[in-house]
Formats: sequence, structure tokens, C-alpha cells
Amino acid sequence: MADLFSTLQLGDLTLSNRIWMAPLTRSRATPERVPTPMMTEHYVQRAGAGLIIAEATNVALRSNAWECTPGIFTDEQIQAWRLLVDGVHLAGGKIALQLWHGGRVAADSREQPDPPLSPSGVNDNIEAITVWGCDEQGIFRKKSASPSRAMTVAEIEDTIAAFGRAARAAREVGFDGVQLHAANGYLPHQFLSPYLNQRSDDYGGSPQARAQFALRCMRAMIAEFPAGRVGMRISPFTTFNGALDPDPVPTYRYLVDELARHGMGWLELADTNFWAGQFDRDQMLSLTRPVFDGPIIANGGIDPETAQTLIRQGSIDAVSFGRLWMANPDLPERIHAGGPYQKAITRRFYGGGPDGYNDYPTLAQAQNAA
Ligand SMILES: Cc1cc2nc3c(=O)[nH]c(=O)nc-3n(C[C@H](O)[C@H](O)[C@H](O)COP(=O)(O)O)c2cc1C
Repeated sequence: MADLFSTLQLGDLTLSNRIWMAPLTRSRATPERVPTPMMTEHYVQRAGAGLIIAEATNVALRSNAWECTPGIFTDEQIQAWRLLVDGVHLAGGKIALQLWHGGRVAADSREQPDPPLSPSGVNDNIEAITVWGCDEQGIFRKKSASPSRAMTVAEIEDTIAAFGRAARAAREVGFDGVQLHAANGYLPHQFLSPYLNQRSDDYGGSPQARAQFALRCMRAMIAEFPAGRVGMRISPFTTFNGALDPDPVPTYRYLVDELARHGMGWLELADTNFWAGQFDRDQMLSLTRPVFDGPIIANGGIDPETAQTLIRQGSIDAVSFGRLWMANPDLPERIHAGGPYQKAITRRFYGGGPDGYNDYPTLAQAQNAA
């Protein structure tokens, strides 16, 4: 019977445990979106994860989601990622990269003054959508997203190609895999939503057409990476960032069926509504488990005991933890010891320096200090 400490096969890759690190934006790259040495240290500290899914990373300048989040579209960014990946590998870890395009969840900035791009330029209640960025005084804070405009077909095709280029760069610097961020109301999710996607061309209308953008991005990534090393994160039932869908089942059933047909490596189910007290894990599993035959990773509000039970009963194959990894760089050891677990400091989530980022002690360090 598998448990959290069992190995897991991901394509040709053997992962040493099933305690994955969920992608976590921390906005500690430079304003030019270059990964920093502080980020290398952060991931090296967490090399004990079965797989680290490194934070959402912009595939192109027009992605423009949140300032000081990394990119993988300039030479400088790519070189910095190489150092980071080498560091994690030297520490014995495995690391994949989450590829991101903010779509309408972005704000005009000095870097990119043009309006954000989205499937149909739906901007109802856009001020309620917030992103992290610099204000006119240069202070890093939450600000409202800016009104977006509908993408042309040429822009859609360029963006799909950008996901392919980002996957190639990720493979060249040595990442063990790549994940498409199709959850939480960002661009691929915006295309899946009938509310945000009101197109009447090949990319909108039927559930199949709305799934095309995510599928084409996935195919562009698979052209650069073995399919078994490519994953996708979805959150079909979430209303986060306004990606509403009164009936996501037909769209996601089609999407997941296609992902399985392409031999995609893993599917991560982000239970984003749990923040509002509603758990969608069971309905996400009944939607995907019968269709997708690769590893399914559950995420969102899961404690280690529940994770252990879910894996032992075969409901899922691995768990990705977010806040637990933030605050416990030695999470597998702590789970093995039955805790205790440190709590992540919320005000240090986004931006700033190494405090609240790289200074959480391991169990041994905490015991020595006591
Ligand atoms: C500070 C912070 C940053 C996050 N960044 C990302 C991200 O880059 N990509 C993503 O898909 N989800 C992101 N999430 C969501 C997490 O991956 C995860 O779904 C969430 O923390 C719930 O899991 P947990 O209960 O184990 O913490 C973020 C969450 C937090 C709190």
C-alpha cells in the first residue's frame, strides 16, 4: 500500500516521496523578473520534496501578472533559473516549473503599459480583482487589475507559442518538468470559463472550443518536454478571479480526456474554494479520476493526516502542500515525526527579503535553539 513516503513514478522520473511542494508566488524576483539568489536558497532548503513545483512564472512580457514574479522569456531570466535548478539538483531535489499567463488578472505597469489581454475583454467588476504591484511611489502593494481587451487570433497563437518557448527554456536549464497553470482564473482558465470567454471562433462557444487554448498550450509544451514530465493544474469549481462556470463538468471532462489521450504526466487539483470553507476535492476527483489514468495530485487545505489517508485508500497519488512547505523547509521529516508544524507568516507572503521566506528553522535547528 502506497503512502506519503512511497516513491512515485512520473514518466521516466522516480520521485522519492509523495510530499510535493505546491507552486507558491512569493514576488521575490527582480523588477525585471529575474530569479534571485534568495529564491535559490529557498528552493534548496525544500529539496526534500518529492517534486517542487516552482512558483508561477510568466511566459511572456504580455503575461504581466503581478510584479516581481519571475519570467522565463529573457536570457538573463533563463541564466538565473539555471543556477537555481542546479542548486536544487545538487541538494538531491527534483523541480518542475509552473508556466503562467495572467490574462485579465494583471495591471498596467511601467514595464507593460498596454491593457492586459483576455479571451473577450470581459471587465465587469474588474476593480475587485487584485494583483501585487508597485504604486506610483514605488511601494509594493495590492492594486486593482486594469481593464483588459480581447485577444486577436494572432495574439492567441503567439501566446501558445510562448508557452512552448518557455517549456523549451525550462528543459534547457534542467527543470525536471513543467506545469501549465490552468487554475485560479488565469488565462487558460479564462478561456475555459463561458462567462469570461464569449468568443465565437475556434477558441470559444462549445465546451470543446473553450478547452482548445489550454490543450494547445499543453501540446506546445509536450513538443518540448516528454509528455510524462508535463502536468496541468486545474480548479474547475472555483470562482476565484471571476472565472465563473455554472456547469464545468462537460468542459473539464473533455479537457481531462484529451490530456489522458496525450499521455500528460500529472494532474494537480487545486481546491481553491476551500479558502471560503467549501471543499471541492470529492467532486474534482469524481470528475477526473475515472478519466485520467496518470498521477493525480490533490492540493488545498489538506493536513498531513488526511493526505496519508487519501493516498493509502488510493483516492489520489500525491499531495502538494503550500503553506506547510512555506513554513517547514524539512516537511517530510516533520511529518515523519508527527510534527510540530510552524505556521507561515501571512504578511511575508509577497515581496520583501529573506525574512518570513528563508528563515523558518528545521526541526533540528528549532530543537538546538530551544
Ligand atoms: C502566498 C501564496 C502564493 C501562491 N502562489 C501560487 C502560484 O504561484 N501558483 C498556483 O497555482 N497557486 C498558488 N497559490 C496557491 C497554492 O499553491 C495552494 O493552492 C494554496 O496555498 C492551498 O494549499 P495549502 O492549503 O496546502 O496551503 C499560492 C498560495 C499562496 C498562499
